[in-house]
Amino acid sequence: MELRLQREELLRRQNFVGGKWVDARGRQRYPVTNPATGKVIAEAANSGRADARAATDAAHRAAGHWRERLPRERAEILRRWHALIVQNTEDLATLMSLEQGKPMTESRGEVAYGASYVAWFAEEATRIYGDLIPQQQRGKQMRAFKEPVGIVAAITPWNFPLAMIARKIAPALAAGCTVVGKPAEDTPLTALALAKLAEEAGVPPGVLNMLSASRERGIEAVGDWLADERVRKITFTGSTAVGKYLARESAGTLKKLSLELGGNAPFIVFEDADLDAAVAGLMAAKFRNGGQTCVCPNRIYVQAPVFERFAELLAARVSALKVAAATDPQAQIGPMINAKAVAKISRHVDDAVSKGASVLVGGTRLAAMGENYYAPTVLKHATNDMLVTCEETFGPVAPLYRFETDEEAIKLANDTPFGLAAYFYTRDMRRAERVARQLDAGVVGLNEGAVASEAAPFGGVKESGYGREGSRYGLDDYLQIKYVCQGNLD
Ligand code: SIN
Repeated sequence: MELRLQREELLRRQNFVGGKWVDARGRQRYPVTNPATGKVIAEAANSGRADARAATDAAHRAAGHWRERLPRERAEILRRWHALIVQNTEDLATLMSLEQGKPMTESRGEVAYGASYVAWFAEEATRIYGDLIPQQQRGKQMRAFKEPVGIVAAITPWNFPLAMIARKIAPALAAGCTVVGKPAEDTPLTALALAKLAEEAGVPPGVLNMLSASRERGIEAVGDWLADERVRKITFTGSTAVGKYLARESAGTLKKLSLELGGNAPFIVFEDADLDAAVAGLMAAKFRNGGQTCVCPNRIYVQAPVFERFAELLAARVSALKVAAATDPQAQIGPMINAKAVAKISRHVDDAVSKGASVLVGGTRLAAMGENYYAPTVLKHATNDMLVTCEETFGPVAPLYRFETDEEAIKLANDTPFGLAAYFYTRDMRRAERVARQLDAGVVGLNEGAVASEAAPFGGVKESGYGREGSRYGLDDYLQIKYVCQGNLD
């Protein structure tokens, strides 16, 4: 796949700081590669501590003016940004497929998905209501206002290079916050293109600042934000280990945190489920982005009477998946993000097989296609002692477990430190109510595999983090409450 954009200026190799495109200090750069071929796509700015400080300075200078803008003025800018994202779908999707590897159809879908958060929060910007508290004493009036929390540092993962950063920046700007952002080292180009479109939409200088960095230098840059008391909030999507690090390191300045962390989603198929719908739901949830999402079902529990039939139906669908490079219009699964990801998938599958799982489909690397390809895989007879059960595989592997009773399924599903998403299929409404309440997860798919939406609160419980993204709840994470008590009114 070649880098051919309709608008070449959307390929940015510099940082966006204070409304200007600038090199990292010392003109440092690092290579961004295509996971399908290993070839370098571009050399991006390799930012460190000084660049992070410059971004915070710019965000600080812009903060007062931005929070004083009328909400409908902020909304108007967000609407223009949304329109530009949609207009430039093809270029954004091309950048995304090149740096992340997902098929073009998925990348186009992600542009629409990410843009939907911008449209949503443009609307929400004008609905930041406070409260007039019912009078408690004569001559006294009590009011609660919602104010922007301040400078927000947005740190995002590689698996959704556009949607994750859009769903952090949009509510932050809507709330009146200014932003310093750092996308994952593997996928900075989509985020930088998004910043370019924000500039074109009229986001004032310093309101949005975006830096790219390699893993090592990124740690330095984020370290500066963690220590800087002007940065009042960190919003992060990524691993639980890094989320814990951010929570620890930001404690010195007591920042507000939104952490959307790792998952280990159970997917339960009860004996009364519509099996075709359950297979379709699993295909959508499990194999989206090649299995590289935090909400991917990681453990698939199927009740004994329907186990064999479900396994058969699933195996037929999975063996028909087309694995190909992003440019192939038929591609359904692309390469994994890097060699480390493939090594982890292999380790999980090999471990499961060594402990008694049988491979129904796949189970191998697709080395002839390139070093980052792994075959979509279905494993039967998975058990609790396997790595696929305890760790997030983050790849196209579907391990099937057999269970007997509802109680057993709930116990197994909740037997994890994580609690992001959970799914189950049943036609029994009483069971549906009961199980939905019993599952320890922030997001539950009931007879549904596609749960994410800009209108819904997305986020986890337990070690999957805290805070919510999307919906009206998603704005609260960028706001703080000020209480004003006015006396002597009579
Ligand atoms: C994620 O994998 O972190 C997000 C998935 C989604 O938005 O659906």
